Amino acid sequence: MSSAKRVAVVTGASAGIGEATARALAAQGFHVVAVARRADRINALAADIGGTAVVADVTDGSAVDELASRLGRVDVLVNNAGGAKGLAPVADADLEHWRWMWETNVLGTLRVTRALLPKLIDSGDGLIVTVTSIAALETYDNGAGYTSAKHAQGALHRTLRGELLGKPVRLTEIAPGAVETEFSLVRFDGDKERADAVYQGITPLTAQDVAEVIGFVASRPSHVDLDQIVIRPRDQAPGSRFNRRAPQD
Ligand SMILES: NC(=O)c1ccc[n+]([C@@H]2O[C@H](COP(=O)([O-])OP(=O)(O)OC[C@H]3O[C@@H](n4cnc5c(N)ncnc54)[C@H](OP(=O)(O)O)[C@@H]3O)[C@@H](O)[C@H]2O)c1
Repeated sequence: MSSAKRVAVVTGASAGIGEATARALAAQGFHVVAVARRADRINALAADIGGTAVVADVTDGSAVDELASRLGRVDVLVNNAGGAKGLAPVADADLEHWRWMWETNVLGTLRVTRALLPKLIDSGDGLIVTVTSIAALETYDNGAGYTSAKHAQGALHRTLRGELLGKPVRLTEIAPGAVETEFSLVRFDGDKERADAVYQGITPLTAQDVAEVIGFVASRPSHVDLDQIVIRPRDQAPGSRFNRRAPQD
C-alpha cells in the first residue's frame, strides 16, 4: 500500500475509542489503516472514511507481520486494541482471563509496535499513541488482571521514550477513566445489564471525547511530545470513586 497522504494505523478500530479515533484522524487528512478482527465493521468504516481495512488479530504474530508487510509509509500508530475480561479477586483469578488481557493489551502492543517501528522511524516524523488507562496508574479491588496488564503496557510504552531518544518518533500515552463503549460488555462476556450498571448515574466519557484528544496530539508540531494524558469524566475521581446519582423515578 502506498500513500501520498500521511498514514495512521489504528488498532481496535472496529468499535469504541479506536473507531472514533480512525474517524477523527481521517477528518484531519490522514489515510487511516483500520485494524481489528471483525471484518464487516472495519470494511464499512474504511469505505466511509476512504481508508484501508486490514483484518488482523494482535495476538497473532503472523497476522501482525502480514499487516506490516502490506504497509508502505506509517506516520502514526495508535495502539488501542485491548480491553478487560472479568472482575475477580486475586484469590479467585481466572488464568484464561489474565492470559487474554496480557496477550491483547501487552503483547499485542509489543507485536504491533515492534513490527511497525522501522516504518515509523523512516517516516522522519513518527508518532506512537498508546491507549492505556487510569488502570495503568492505579489499582482497584478485583481488577488486578486488567490493572497489571495496563501497568505493563504503560511500562512498555514509556520505556520506548528513552530507547527512541534521538530518533524522529514521538510517544504519547493516553490514560482514560470510564468511557462508555463496548468495553464493559466485553468485560462481562455480553451481560448487558451488568455492563450498563457500570455507567449508571454518572456521565461517562464518550469515545469521541478521547478521539478528539488523540487528534489534538497528532496535530502538534513535531518538536512537541505530549508524554502522558489522563482523561476522566468529571464524575470520577482517583481511587475508583464515582459521583453516582440515584436513578430518577
Ligand atoms: N472504555 C473504557 O472505560 C476504557 C478506559 C480506559 C482505557 N480503555 C482502553 O481503550 C482501548 C479501547 O477500548 P474501548 O473502550 O474502545 O473498547 P471496545 O469498544 O470494546 O473496543 C475494543 C477494540 O479492540 C479490538 N480488539 C480486541 N481484541 C483484539 C485483538 N486481539 N486483535 C485486534 N483487535 C482487538 C476490538 O475489535 P475486534 O473485536 O473487532 O477485534 C475493538 O475494536 C482498550 O485498550 C481499553 O483497554 C478503555
